[in-house]
Amino acid sequence: MVTATGSTEGMNCAQGTCACASAGTLRVAVLVSGRGSNLQALIDAQRRGGMPIELVLVASDKAQAPALRRAERAGIATLALDPRGYTTRAAFDADLFARIGALAPDLIVLAGFMRIIDPAALAPWQGRIINIHPSLLPKYPGLHTHARAIAAGDPTHGATVHYVTAQLDGGPAIAQAQIHIVPGDTPDTLAQRLLAHEHELLVACVDLIARERVRLDGTIVKLDGVALRHPLCIGGDQSPAA
Ligand code: GRF
Repeated sequence: MVTATGSTEGMNCAQGTCACASAGTLRVAVLVSGRGSNLQALIDAQRRGGMPIELVLVASDKAQAPALRRAERAGIATLALDPRGYTTRAAFDADLFARIGALAPDLIVLAGFMRIIDPAALAPWQGRIINIHPSLLPKYPGLHTHARAIAAGDPTHGATVHYVTAQLDGGPAIAQAQIHIVPGDTPDTLAQRLLAHEHELLVACVDLIARERVRLDGTIVKLDGVALRHPLCIGGDQSPAA
């Protein structure tokens, strides 16, 4: 794994030390826009021990994102960049990813990062950037996934962790958590029930990547060197249909 120590210029580290990776750990940067419960799941899992990751940066497009406060409390370096300070989306993304790159993460995790990323900024990170999305992709890319699943009369809903490509929520899937939609579910109750499964799913996927068990080979996700024919099923309250 990359263990280079990066610049902390322009960043805030509550402990005063950043990018202090040790050999054998996966250096992880997390991008967030809001609440940060998935980030918290990673922080908690890392703290419990046994997960070979180091959270080297939490970055956001929203300075007020509660997720940044979670990172500060955990002593993780943070970065907030305001897109309104840039003339184009591409310029913002180029700067954001250059600053992230300065810390030499092995993996970037999009955990509730509510922006479409410019393909040019993404390209160097192919196979090293993942996203958690609250639907059983390829169903319901984009927003309002819980409401769309209920409106469609789906019996099940879920979340997907996938590698990020230029196609919105369209990259190769690593794993999914699937849950039942029950009578009376609203978008809020469904989202809330799914969230705990999201946390388990994301932590498990990052752990698999950190242990070098999962990787992207071209457009194919491999587990222990074998191509996945379907996303892995992790957590959830049932197994996905074959
Ligand atoms: C999650 O539902 C995640 O799947 C989606 O955005 C939400 C982020 O929640 N991409 P949180 O900020 O991690 O609590």
